[in-house]
Amino acid sequence: MHSVLIVDDEKVQAGILGEILSHEGFDVTTQTHPETALALAQTQSFDLVISDLKMPQMDGVELLQRLRKIHPDLSVIIMTAHGTIQTAVKAMREGAYDYVTKPFSKEELLITVQRAIKNLEILRENVYLKEELGLYPSSTPLVGKSPAMQNIHRMITKVAQDDKATVLVQGETGTGKDLAARAIHQMSPRKDAPFIVVNCAAVPKELMESEFFGHEKGAFTGAISAKPGRFELADRGTLFLDEVAEMDANLQGKLLRVLQTMEFERVGGTRTHRVNVRVIAATNKILQEEVRAGRFREDLFYRLNVVPITIPPLRDRKEDIPLLAEHYLKKLEAEGKRKVQLSQEALEALVHYNYPGNVRELGNLLERAIILSDGKTITPRELHLYPIDVPLPADAPGSLERTGTGSLREVGRQAAEEAERNLLLKTLHQTHWNRINAAKALGVDYKTLRLKIRRYGLTPGRD
Ligand SMILES: Nc1ncnc2c1ncn2[C@@H]1O[C@H](COP(=O)(O)OP(=O)(O)OP(=O)(O)O)[C@@H](O)[C@H]1O
Ligand SMILES: [Mg+2]
Repeated sequence: MHSVLIVDDEKVQAGILGEILSHEGFDVTTQTHPETALALAQTQSFDLVISDLKMPQMDGVELLQRLRKIHPDLSVIIMTAHGTIQTAVKAMREGAYDYVTKPFSKEELLITVQRAIKNLEILRENVYLKEELGLYPSSTPLVGKSPAMQNIHRMITKVAQDDKATVLVQGETGTGKDLAARAIHQMSPRKDAPFIVVNCAAVPKELMESEFFGHEKGAFTGAISAKPGRFELADRGTLFLDEVAEMDANLQGKLLRVLQTMEFERVGGTRTHRVNVRVIAATNKILQEEVRAGRFREDLFYRLNVVPITIPPLRDRKEDIPLLAEHYLKKLEAEGKRKVQLSQEALEALVHYNYPGNVRELGNLLERAIILSDGKTITPRELHLYPIDVPLPADAPGSLERTGTGSLREVGRQAAEEAERNLLLKTLHQTHWNRINAAKALGVDYKTLRLKIRRYGLTPGRD
C-alpha cells in the first residue's frame, strides 16, 4: 500500500482529497499545517506528498525544499490556483514531481498521482538494478541431468509457481544455491519485480536491522537521510536471505515476526509498512544442526523451511561433471578465453576428484587449466588436482618430466606429502580426533603424530 501525505491549510479541501485517495487504496495522512507536516516527515516516511502551494505559514515550494532535505527521493505534487503557474514551474525546478491546477477533477488528480507512483517504482527499481549489475554479471541456468538435479529442477519449477511459499535452499559451498534462488524468482510470476539479496554474514550486526527494515533520518548516528530497507525494496518481488545461519539471535526474532505479518516499521519510524515479499533463504550449514546447537531459532527454522531444497555436493552426482565441464569450457570461450578440449584422461581425473568447493571449484580449476595449457587440449597435468580421489598419475610416463619446477624427486616428495596429509586427515576423522587412537591406527607414536598435525596445519572441522 502506498502512503500519501496531504498538506493543505484548508481543512475541507484536505479532507476531500484524503477521501478520494483512501478510496483508491492509499494510506492517507492529512495535515493542515506545513510545520507539523515537516515534523511528521522526520519520523515517518511517505511515498508521495501532495501539497498546496499557497499556505499562510509557509509556501509549498519551501515545504518541498525542506522535505527533500529529509527524504531526497520523495515525490511531491504541488496544487496551484490559476495565475500561479510561474511558481508551479519553479516548484518543478526545485524537484516537485508534478503539479495540478485548481480546480481539478478527481480523474486529473488520480492520473497525476498514479504517474508519480509509477515514477517512484521505476526509481526504486533502478536502485535495485544498480546493485544487481554491480554484483552479478548474469544468471546462468542450472546445468545437470543427474537424477538429483532433475529432482531439483522439478522442485524449482513447482515452487516458482506458488509465489508465496518460503524456500530454504541448503547445500555445501559452491553447489549453486544462489543460482537456484535466482531461477525460482525468474520462473515465478514475480519475475518482473526486484530480486533483492541480503547477505546475513556480510552486514555488521548493528546495521542489520536497518538493512532489513530501513531507517528514518536521525534514527541513529550516521543516519543522515531516510533509507528504505531490503524488505521495502523487495516489495512484490523476492528477498534472498543468503547465509541465513549467520543471522544474530535478536534479528532472528524480529524476522520471524515480520515473516508472519509482512508488516514492520523502519528503525526510528512509527509508520507501519506492509509488503508483499517472497522469501528464499540459503545456507551452507545444516540448519537443523544449528537449531540443535541452540544457534538458530527453531520457530524461525520451521517458518523458513516450508519448501526445503537441498542441492547435493558435486561428488555425489558425478554424472553432471562432464556436462558442467563442457558448459564451463563454452562459457570461458565466450568470455574470450582460448578454445580448448579435455583429454580423455583429464575428463576421467575430473570425474574422480571430490570437489570440496563443488561447482565453483570445477569452474575455477578449468579456468586455471586453460591458462596453464598451451595447446588445444587440457591434460591431467594442467588440472592440478590434489590426489584425494584420483588414482595416482595414470597418464605417466612423460607427464612428470614436464611438471613445472622440474625434478622427479621434487614431484615424488610433493605427492608423498599430499598422500600422507590425506591419510592423516582420514584417520583423524575416523577416530573423531582421538590422537592416541589415530596414532595407533597409523602405526606411529603419539609425539610424531602431533608433530605432523602441526606441520600440515590440520584442525578438526576442516576435513
Ligand atoms: N548447476 C550449475 N550449472 C551451472 N553453473 C553452476 C551450477 N551450480 C553452480 N554453478 C556455478 O558455480 C558458482 C557457484 O554457485 P553459487 O554461487 O550459486 O553457489 P552457492 O551454493 O550459493 O555457494 P556459497 O555457499 O559459497 O554461496 C557460480 O558461478 C554458479 O554459476
Ligand atoms: Mg551463495
